[in-house]
Amino acid sequence: MSDIDRDLPLLDDVATARDAGLARILTAASVDEVAAIDADLLGKKGSLALLKTRLGTLSTVDEKKAAGQALNAATQSVTEALATRRIDLARAERAVQLEQERLDLTEELTQPRRGHSHLVTQAWQRLEDVFIGLGFQVAEGPEVETDFYNFEALNMPRSHPARSGFDTLFTDYSGPLAEDGTVLLRTHTSPVQIRVMQTIEPPIYMVMPGRVFRRDTPDATHMPVFHQIEGLVIDRGITMAHLAGTIDAFTKAFFGGAFTSRLRPNYFPFTEPSAEFDIQRPDGSWIELGGCGMVHPNVLRAGGLDPEEWSGFAFGFGIDRMARERHGIDDIRDMYSNDIRFIEQF
Ligand code: DAH
Repeated sequence: MSDIDRDLPLLDDVATARDAGLARILTAASVDEVAAIDADLLGKKGSLALLKTRLGTLSTVDEKKAAGQALNAATQSVTEALATRRIDLARAERAVQLEQERLDLTEELTQPRRGHSHLVTQAWQRLEDVFIGLGFQVAEGPEVETDFYNFEALNMPRSHPARSGFDTLFTDYSGPLAEDGTVLLRTHTSPVQIRVMQTIEPPIYMVMPGRVFRRDTPDATHMPVFHQIEGLVIDRGITMAHLAGTIDAFTKAFFGGAFTSRLRPNYFPFTEPSAEFDIQRPDGSWIELGGCGMVHPNVLRAGGLDPEEWSGFAFGFGIDRMARERHGIDDIRDMYSNDIRFIEQF
């Protein structure tokens, strides 16, 4: 440090102005405040500019030079400090703004809603439960069947008139596994009877629920896809009385003790004798439920069983219909419309 440095009051003033400026800059709280400090220090009437005007009052060239350099250095450090502070504050202000404007798009479920089984699934499961309670087992078969299982083995040969009662949907399968025109969507769950007899040794106490298909136009009581449950009992010495007793036990277990059942003579190719079974509500009215009968000897033979040794009964009825009956639903199509306002009521 030269003598001049020590003796010149202007140098002290520059240092003081610079330090005061730097201190203000460091504590500036906003970009706007930085701009104000910028004007205070570097503007036309700013403190450093005012000090510059005092250069003319200095007497020697050396003094002017020393003071001029000090002013330039002070201006530069103040300029740099302003720039740095401006960037820092702008960044911080942007971060605050971003945080404030943030959109939280996550959906908060304070009470998660749980779904439940469809009402047909509920009926299906209750039916299984009731039959399991009566000592039955559950089996399922394929939805795509052959003519043999769906008709032929059930005592309906090709020319049998009962076939036309099942509005059958045929697949266009043609290949080595089956003759053309013999692969179809099963029209009932009865073909599973044959598959069960072919695979399980009697005694058989089995129910077979599943989806079935018919070429029907949907209306209040029909759907082209619906559900049935089939029952099959094969044992020694099985009679019609066992069938009637089983239907009645089922009726009471499923609907309640105040319900009763009856059999009415009917015709099915796969049973002999055959019957239709109805259940009676406590108010005395009757609901037609399904078909049943003693398994026809031809059907036992198709299942690989000797009719001299084994006898049995079978029954089958609609699951959708049970659900509709239980809940008093007028139009079966409502059950499949997937309208959540309807579905969630059950
Ligand atoms: N498979 C018949 C149908 O879909 C219902 C039926 C009737 C099943 C009598 C049976 C039975 O097992 O014995 O209309």
